[in-house]
Amino acid sequence: MKVLVIGAGGREHALAYKINLSPLVSEIHVIPGNDAMTHIAQTHPEIGESAHEEIIEFAEQQGIDWVIIGPEQPLIDGLADKLEAKGINTFGPNEAAAQIEGSKRFAKHLMAKYDIPTAQYYESHSKQEALDYLSQCDYPIVLKKDGLAAGKGVIIATNREEAIAAIEKLHDSENEVVVFEEYLEGEEFSLMTLVNGDYAVPFDCIAQDHKRAYDNDQGPNTGGMGAYCPVPHIDNSVIKETNQQIAQPIAQSLKSEGYHFFGLLYIGAMLTNEGPKVIEFNARFGDPEAQVLLKRMESDLMQHIIDLKNKQPIQFKWRDSSIVGVMLASKGYPGSYEKGKKVSDFETNNGTYFVSGLKREDGHFVTSGGRVVLALGEGKDIATAKREAYKAVNAIENEALFYREDIGNKAIH
Ligand code: AMP
Ligand code: GLY
Repeated sequence: MKVLVIGAGGREHALAYKINLSPLVSEIHVIPGNDAMTHIAQTHPEIGESAHEEIIEFAEQQGIDWVIIGPEQPLIDGLADKLEAKGINTFGPNEAAAQIEGSKRFAKHLMAKYDIPTAQYYESHSKQEALDYLSQCDYPIVLKKDGLAAGKGVIIATNREEAIAAIEKLHDSENEVVVFEEYLEGEEFSLMTLVNGDYAVPFDCIAQDHKRAYDNDQGPNTGGMGAYCPVPHIDNSVIKETNQQIAQPIAQSLKSEGYHFFGLLYIGAMLTNEGPKVIEFNARFGDPEAQVLLKRMESDLMQHIIDLKNKQPIQFKWRDSSIVGVMLASKGYPGSYEKGKKVSDFETNNGTYFVSGLKREDGHFVTSGGRVVLALGEGKDIATAKREAYKAVNAIENEALFYREDIGNKAIH
C-alpha cells in the first residue's frame, strides 16, 4: 500500500514514522515533509500543502492508496473533499465537518444544541457588544477569536482592565466574532477519537499537553511545549465518561446535522468538579500529543484507519511504558524569533526525535520554525521517561533553543 502524508511538522514526522512500521505499507510520501524525515519517507518540498491540484495530480500519478492529512489548514480549505471526489481514500474530514475546529462558534452551537458539557459562552459581534457584556461577566473570563489562531487566539482576563485590552486585541476587524467563555478550573487532557460518521472510537490512552511557554504554566499560550502519556492520575473511568458524554454525542450530533466527519477528532477537555467539559475540538491529531501517543501505540495505525473506514471493531494496543516528549523551541517563540540557527546533528529515524522546524543547509541542521524538535523518552513510569527525554534534550546542542524543565511533573509525586 502507498501512503501520502500531508504536512511538514513533528506530528507528520511521527505519522510517517508510525505508518512506516506497518506491514501493510510499502511506500510513504510526505508533501511537503521536512529534511528530518528523509530516512523514513520520500519528501516533496517542491509541493506546498496548499497546492491542492498538484497534490491530487501527484496522488493519481503515484497510485496513492491513502492520503493522511496532518494539519488543520488543508482540511479547512477542503483538500479532503477534492481528494474524495477523485476517489482517493482520505483520512481527514471534509471542509464542512472541519468547521468543528475552524469555527469556535460552530462548535459551541453544536454543543449547546446537543447538551454536550462545555463552558458557558457568549458571542459578541462588535467591540461595543463585547464591552457591554463585561458589566455582567465574572472573572477570570476567557476570550477567543472565532477562527483559527494556532493556539494564540485565546486570552484569559483576570479583571475588567485585562478584558478591555483583550477585546481591543481580538475585535480587530469589522466582521470579527469573539467568543466569551466561562473559565473552567481543573486538569486538562487530550483524547484522540477516530470518527467515521456516528462510529466513534476514542483512544484508550489520553495525553497531557503543556500549552504555556514557560515552567509552572507561566507565559503565553503556544502550540504545545511538551506532552506525555499515559496520564496516571486521571482514571480510566474519566476516559469512559468522556466517551459517553462527549465523543459519542458529538459524533451523533455531527451526523444528525448532516455533516460527514471521517478522520481524527481531538477532544481537548478539562476535568472539572462536574466531570469532563470540552475546551476545544480539533479536526486532526494534536501536536505534540500525536508524537507521544504514536510512539506508545503498539497496534497498527494503518489497520485502525482501514477498520474505521469499514466500521469494523478497533482494539488499540499500547506499549507497557510511559512516554514523555519535551519541545525545543527557538528563543523568542511564540513571539518573534530568528531562523537559520545551527543545531547539532542527531538521529531522526528511530523515534527519539520528531522534528517540526529544521532544514538541512550545507550538510547540517538549521532552525526554520518556532517549535523545532520534540525530544522523547520512554520508561516504566513518567519519572523514568522524563529523565530519558531530558537526556535526549541535552544530546542536542541548543544555544538558540529553549525548553520547559517541568514536562510531566503533574504526573510525578
Ligand atoms: P484553545 O485554543 O481553545 O484550546 O485554548 C488554549 C488554552 O487556553 C487551553 O488549552 C486552556 O489551557 C486555556 N483555555 C481555553 N478555554 C478555557 C476555559 N474555558 N477555561 C479555562 N481555560 C481555558
Ligand atoms: N497541542 C494542541 C494542539 O495540537 O492543538
